[in-house]
Amino acid sequence: MKPYVFITRKLPDEAVEKLRAKYDVKMWEKEDVGVPRSILLEEAGRADALLTMLSDQIDEELLSAGTRLKVVTNLAVGYDNVDVEAATKHGIAICNTPDVLTAATADLTFALLMATARRIVEGAEFIKAGQWKSWSPLLLAGHDIHHKTIGIVGMGGIGSAVAKRATGFEMEILYHNRSRKNDVEMELGATYCSFEQLIERSDFVVCLTPLTEETKNLFTRDVFRRMKKTAIFINASRGPVVNEEDLYAALVDGDIAAAGLDVFAKEPIDQTHPLLGLSNVVAIPHIGSATVETRLNMIQLCLDNIDAILSGKEPKTLVNKEWNK
Ligand code: GLV
Ligand code: GLV
Repeated sequence: MKPYVFITRKLPDEAVEKLRAKYDVKMWEKEDVGVPRSILLEEAGRADALLTMLSDQIDEELLSAGTRLKVVTNLAVGYDNVDVEAATKHGIAICNTPDVLTAATADLTFALLMATARRIVEGAEFIKAGQWKSWSPLLLAGHDIHHKTIGIVGMGGIGSAVAKRATGFEMEILYHNRSRKNDVEMELGATYCSFEQLIERSDFVVCLTPLTEETKNLFTRDVFRRMKKTAIFINASRGPVVNEEDLYAALVDGDIAAAGLDVFAKEPIDQTHPLLGLSNVVAIPHIGSATVETRLNMIQLCLDNIDAILSGKEPKTLVNKEWNK
C-alpha cells in the first residue's frame, strides 16, 4: 500500500501529479470553503502526511489522532496554527515555507504601505463612483514615503527584504527584534531600537513579527497613542498581534493617520467589520505571498518536504529539529 497524503485545499493537479506515482494523494476538493474539522480529524487518523493551510488548527487533538502521521507541512512561513511542542512529543515533523515567499511578501507589504500612504484604493473607488469632477490641489493628498522613517517590528527574512526596499526610497530604517541583526545594520543601514523608541519615532510602523505568546496583543491603544499622529500602521504578520478595537479607536480618534492591513484577528472578515467602514484603512484578504509563482514554489516545497520525510531523508525546511530525537 502506498503511503497516504491528505491535502486540505485544492491545489493545481499538475503540481501534485508527480507525487501520485509514489503516494496515494487526496485533496479537499471544494475551492471556496476549508475542510471541516471532523473530516480533517478523520483524514489525520489515516494519513502518513498532511499538507495544511494556516487556517487549519493542528493541535494536540489532531496530532494524537494521527497514529500513522509522520509529517505536517504547512503552506505558510508562519506556524502559529500548529502546536509544535505536541507534534515533537508525538514524533511528527512540522515543516513550513520560509525563504521562497520572502520577496513576494516584502513586495506586498511595501505595496500596502504605498497604497495606504498615497490613498490608492480611495482614489480608485472615488473615480469608479463618478466623483472626479475636477483636478484640485489637495484632492486625495496623502503622505510622503521617501525620506521618511520606517520602523520594522520583527526583522526576520521578510523584515530585511522590506528594509531593502525602503533603501530605494531613501528612508531611515529602524527595527526592533528579539536579536540584533548585524547584517541588516551593516548592509542596509538599519538602526536597532527598543519597541518604545520605534513606535515613537517612526512615520511607518510595519508589523512583521510572528504571532507568539509574547507578541499577541502587542499593539494596544496605549501603543497607538504613543505613535505620531501622522503615523501609518501596516500589519502583514498575524491579526492577533493587534488589538483591533484599540486600532479602530486610534484611527477614529486620530491617534494615528491610517492603517494598511493584510491580516485580521479572526479571518475571514466580512463587509460588516468596523475597520472597513473607515476611509483611512486599506484592507486586503491575507494575500502577502499570493503570486502565482510564489504559491507554486511554496506548494512544491511542501511536496518536497513530504517526500523527504516519507523517504527517510532530511526535509528542506523543518520547524521542530527535535522531532525524531
Ligand atoms: C502567511 O501568512 C504565511 O505565514 O506564510
Ligand atoms: C519582536 O518583534 C520580535 O521579533 O522579537
